[in-house]
Amino acid sequence: MKARNPEKPLTKNPHLLKWVAKMAELTTPAAIHWVDGSQEEYDTLCAQMVAAGTLTKLNDQLWPGCHYARSDAGDVARVEDRTFICSLSRDNAGPTNNWVDPFAMRKTLKGLFTGCMAGRTMYVLPFSMGPVGSPLSQIGVQLTDSPYVVVNMRIMARIGLPVFQEIDKNGKRVVPCMHSVGAPLAPGQADVPWPCNREKYIVHFPETREIWSYGSGYGGNALLGKKCFALRIASNMARDEGWMAEHMLILGVEDPQGDKTYVAAAFPSACGKTNFAMLIPPPALRDKGWKVWTVGDDIAWLKPDARGRLHAINPEAGFFGVAPGTSVKTNPNAMAALAKNTIFTNVALTPEGGVWWEGMTDTPPPELTDWQGKRWTPAIAKETGAKAAHPNARFTAPASQCPTIDPAWEAPEGVPISALIFGGRRAGTVPLVYQAFNWSAGVYVGATMGSEMTAAAAGTIGKVRRDPFAMLPFCGYHMGDYFRHWISMQRKLSETPSIFCVNWFRKDADGRFLWPGFRENMRILKWIVDRARGRVPARETPVGWQPRYEDIDWTGADFTPGQFAALEAIDRSAWRAEIIGHEELFIDLHAHLPKEMIYERELLICRL
Ligand code: GTP
Ligand code: SPV
Ligand code: MN
Repeated sequence: MKARNPEKPLTKNPHLLKWVAKMAELTTPAAIHWVDGSQEEYDTLCAQMVAAGTLTKLNDQLWPGCHYARSDAGDVARVEDRTFICSLSRDNAGPTNNWVDPFAMRKTLKGLFTGCMAGRTMYVLPFSMGPVGSPLSQIGVQLTDSPYVVVNMRIMARIGLPVFQEIDKNGKRVVPCMHSVGAPLAPGQADVPWPCNREKYIVHFPETREIWSYGSGYGGNALLGKKCFALRIASNMARDEGWMAEHMLILGVEDPQGDKTYVAAAFPSACGKTNFAMLIPPPALRDKGWKVWTVGDDIAWLKPDARGRLHAINPEAGFFGVAPGTSVKTNPNAMAALAKNTIFTNVALTPEGGVWWEGMTDTPPPELTDWQGKRWTPAIAKETGAKAAHPNARFTAPASQCPTIDPAWEAPEGVPISALIFGGRRAGTVPLVYQAFNWSAGVYVGATMGSEMTAAAAGTIGKVRRDPFAMLPFCGYHMGDYFRHWISMQRKLSETPSIFCVNWFRKDADGRFLWPGFRENMRILKWIVDRARGRVPARETPVGWQPRYEDIDWTGADFTPGQFAALEAIDRSAWRAEIIGHEELFIDLHAHLPKEMIYERELLICRL
């Protein structure tokens, strides 16, 4: 078979052709490559990156079809302080976003992008967020000078020819996504394994639905379909069009009767979405017939169907999951999903050409090459505290490889959602689980979520910050208007999902987790499903409905009523401080805060 000439355009769409030509003129790449999304293309790009030192091919016996990348030490996570929402008015971005005047930002970007792809290939990468052709899907085209981004995007989204065909077929509006690592090469200049720039800009223009990303090749900074498109730009589309773009996993719970209940859950970055989405029930509950099916692990697009029932799709096609802590004990489904055809970034390399990360096994291998390319042994780690894998090391794995992937995960109409769950990482105050009294009380719970910061973003790890709906870094417009949009969604729904709050991370006075978490979370999920279906009573408390000890299925666990009481306890003085924390957020948002939030806060204070 004759190899395709990648320089030959794969679209006839005049707008797209014109835009590509214009961007090539601006960025002056050495070549243009139209991405067809084929396996051959993927293999060729990987082989080229292996030759260039960007990727390492893993031992094919141990890790078939897998590759390994080590990033620049200064390019390891999302950069929230370099992320910008450039709406026409500052007021539309709101106080929780970095705003820059769009005209000034365009000028800056023009400077940064001029000649920025010199010596590199510009890839024209069309992608569909959501199954190609689904009425809930959206299309983007990313121009990027990073082949690493292309191969990752092939796992994370539907890319290539079918998407070009979709663009040509219906002339649907596409979101233009410009991406450069910001490292042009002079003639003859040798490349580095992970090109990037110290100066980083992750820029969104919500009105024109555009994304411009400069200087980073890592994760959400560079795989523009993910946080930039599917959350920041999509949240703007969703507000205008009456749907929701959320930082939520989606899962289906099959009960012993064989009925399935779908729930979506918002937890902040590195707070357990991937683990919860792939949960395997403890044996006692599995034997009774409970099973969890995975639809998505990070992002949900939710829209009322013609009958007013909320439906959700996972706009992604892969998992970009946190590696450290992932093991056959904590998440066997993730381990199966990442066993082949996966790209690992910033984990550690074994001498056999395999990978390892903290928490993968109880005993680390005797010798490793760490994520910075240095020799690592347990003894060195003990002495220096050096981690073998970066705490935000990630795997990029195809969702289809997950053993519990739901049969309906690619259903064009999505799956019906019966419950929504909010949860943060909180050492105190917030109980293991409670149900909000109704929709507006539930919106208050989401709006006032707090969580301790994690390694998923550059910042102070462990500090509690308000993270409304786990969307603080991802809401593409004014947070107060976003709360209002949530409130208004109820009027579009014929059945409102029940809303719950969970906290897997409550600790005792000695700093130990009070709750075992992981698969034991099934006991709480079962209660949530039973509540959503009206099958179990609950106890009314100041914060909402809480389970009594006997409402939870404890089969196969030895968890005492006393332990459970500690997890569910409402400490009035801690809640007093908590509500003052809510108030601080509300003061920031005051001009746009829906009055329901004020009333809900008043009711909560009265009940306490
Ligand atoms: P992003 O991909 O950044 O959005 O993260 P995520 O929300 O998918 O988080 P993930 O499931 O990858 O979990 C991140 C960390 O939380 C890992 O270190 C897990 O081991 C830990 N974790 C997950 N579930 C639990 C739990 O139930 N209890 C405890 N204590 N830790 C958990
Ligand atoms: C997160 O930080 O919430 C992630 C990883 O899911 S990233 O794609 O880098 O945003
Ligand atoms: Mn995430």
